[in-house]
Amino acid sequence: MEKLIVQGGHRLKGRVNISGSKNSALPILAATLLTRDTCTIRRVPDLSDTNYMLRILGELGAEVERASGVVVITAGKIKWKAPYELVRKMRASICVLGPLTGRLHKASVSLPGGCVIGDRPVDLHLRGLEALGAKVLVEGGDILVSATRAGFKGRVINMMGKHGPTVLGTGNVMMAATLAKGTTIIEGAAAEPEVEDLADFLIKMGAKIEGAGTNRVVIEGVKELHGAEHTVIPDRIEAGTFLVAGAMLGDGVTLKRVVPGHLRAVTSTLEACGFELESGRDSLTIRGNGSSRGFTLTTHPYPGFPTDMQAQFCALACAIPDSSTITETIFPQRFMHVAEIKRMGANVTLQGATAHIRGGAPLKGAPVMASDLRASAALVLAGLFAEGQTEVHRLYHIDRGYEHLDDKLAALGASLERARE
Ligand code: EPZ
Repeated sequence: MEKLIVQGGHRLKGRVNISGSKNSALPILAATLLTRDTCTIRRVPDLSDTNYMLRILGELGAEVERASGVVVITAGKIKWKAPYELVRKMRASICVLGPLTGRLHKASVSLPGGCVIGDRPVDLHLRGLEALGAKVLVEGGDILVSATRAGFKGRVINMMGKHGPTVLGTGNVMMAATLAKGTTIIEGAAAEPEVEDLADFLIKMGAKIEGAGTNRVVIEGVKELHGAEHTVIPDRIEAGTFLVAGAMLGDGVTLKRVVPGHLRAVTSTLEACGFELESGRDSLTIRGNGSSRGFTLTTHPYPGFPTDMQAQFCALACAIPDSSTITETIFPQRFMHVAEIKRMGANVTLQGATAHIRGGAPLKGAPVMASDLRASAALVLAGLFAEGQTEVHRLYHIDRGYEHLDDKLAALGASLERARE
């Protein structure tokens, strides 16, 4: 196992290229199961999560070739049972449920286990597939889905949950509905850019979809889908993480290959704090300005403030000499990073799903433990800002969702290195 040793206090400056989106690539790779033809997906980030997905597709019988960000997949003859050993390692494996159900009218995928960021049921996914006429059983830790070709029909489905729409749930039902008879209307659909990107790929495969990127998606079922080529959108959460690094320690950090429109909730919060931002067609530049103000934010489904940027803004709030408040509404318990940042001297009080941060106190380097992907990014940001040396343990959390984070930060002037635990 590896850790990251971070030397604090180095200013950041320069340009960084943003990778393809993890949360877009995962469902898009799974969607290739919907056709027996060959699909080519570009800008697939080199992450442990995308590698898991490719292994699962391989185990299901798909031919998978990969060469530096380009993945070619041919899911000719496939099986309906996903391998537990791989599925248990990554929650997002649930994305194969929709394509297998749509194409084979049969699927078995293990029920995702617990998650440190909070309660993550999949009841909305199952409700959606049942509404399409599938029979769903949960037995022995597995989700078993079966349907008849005649009975697999489009319906009006409300996918709204108590914490709002579901991103992967919308994707799963949308994928299954592409091959269901008649029209499916998903109300309360998630409107994230990753859902829209998935729909764009499905449309290239011959699917009939309207309204993706809004809360009402209409899918007209077709008999079959064909092969297609697609380039995954840039990772807005990786981009947001670098914007926060640039806010905390930057003397001008420019992000390239990014979609500024996908980050409005993030950039408007940074501007409200007093940071200067400049956006180009596919670029964003951030400059600190020496005096910044605290902020109050509440996470919401897109286009609201993303929960996947909450931890990083917690680290930013520690660096701003003012008070800030962060309320988490999607995963109310998603504050594993707080106890670790407090070990570095941060002044944070948790009240239910709200964190009150009194920033400005100097942070001191310390050994800290990563617990999940975004919490680990926050610990790296805090370590870059702190005095002295920080050791971020369980680096594998970072490698799940950030492509070459340490190299990219080092290219901007950070001092950090990987080491064995
Ligand atoms: C996606 O997870 C992302 N993962 C998550 O990013 C992200 O935090 C989340 O969306 C919210 O934006 C991927 O895309 C691979 P949800 P997903 O279903 O789809 C509740 C990261 O850091 N819910 O939209 O699994 C759920 O408990 C990861 O990259 C139900 O109640 O999240 C949560 O409170 C972490 N029943 C809310 O809905 C369901 O059936 C939103 O979850 C499904 C979800």
